[in-house]
Amino acid sequence: MAYETIIVEVEDHIAKVTLNRPDALNALNDQLMSELADAMAAAQADSKVRCIVLAGSEKAFAAGADIAMMKDKTYIEVFTEDLFGPETDAISRVRKPIIAAVSGYALGGGCELAMMCDFIIASETAKFGQPEVNLGVMAGIGGTQRLTHAVGKAKAMDMNLTGRFMDAAEAERSGLVSRVVSPKKLMEEVMAAAHKIAEKSMISTMAIKEAVNKSFEVPLRDGLLFERRVFHSLFATEDQKEGMEAFLEKRTAQFRDK
Ligand code: HXC
Repeated sequence: MAYETIIVEVEDHIAKVTLNRPDALNALNDQLMSELADAMAAAQADSKVRCIVLAGSEKAFAAGADIAMMKDKTYIEVFTEDLFGPETDAISRVRKPIIAAVSGYALGGGCELAMMCDFIIASETAKFGQPEVNLGVMAGIGGTQRLTHAVGKAKAMDMNLTGRFMDAAEAERSGLVSRVVSPKKLMEEVMAAAHKIAEKSMISTMAIKEAVNKSFEVPLRDGLLFERRVFHSLFATEDQKEGMEAFLEKRTAQFRDK
């Protein structure tokens, strides 16, 4: 598929997907969401890809769902087409790790898209928000759910009810982002993290993603049992033998995803 609203580059086992609607601050329209879902599925299917990076521009990761596209839609239309439901489900189904690189605005659907990734590394310029309340609506693809898991009820309610933005420092303090770096260092830091992940056994990294995500779905006892059983299952891999042997032989492990 030839893309018009995103740019995909695959190099050194990393698929870098860049949102590319600069005139609309990367606002998410049907075409962009469909291309993004397609690119994510392709990265999942590509055996060369071991980690995915999702980035925007320096000014905006994404300023939300495209308001011009949504304005005249009826309830019947958004319900019937399940606005952004299939695309966001497709992104959530990706089993390889995804890092979001956020610079500038990550608002509404943009903040929600960043939160669909496995972790967020932000530039000092990042601004997160769920300002849908200002448009007479509310968050629709994770802003009342994933944000609450990430930052707790008080801040999630504050952001969703008032529409105020959270800067990078507050986002890091609140657990929404894992690291904050200078704008110049953002892509370097994100790509270095992606390369670190790509060096590991992909069996481990995919299992880790599944286990951490399980913690949001099930009670602690079930999550702990799931984690322990998946941990046990990794002893069936050659990479477990290689990883432990390499440690004892004081050399770098050569993982082969076997
Ligand atoms: C469509 C958008 C847009 C959006 C910006 N633009 N955000 N177009 N949808 N969400 C367009 C502007 O219309 C403008 O186009 C151009 O991008 C530059 O934006 P400006 O507003 O001129 O820039 P600036 O003054 O720097 O302000 C930046 C901003 C502001 C603070 C980010 O653009 C803003 O508040 N945007 C809307 C944020 C928002 O409400 N997001 C939530 C959307 S609802 P022109 O043609 O005039 O140059 C949502 C629902 C998700 O996300 C759930 C879906 C299921």
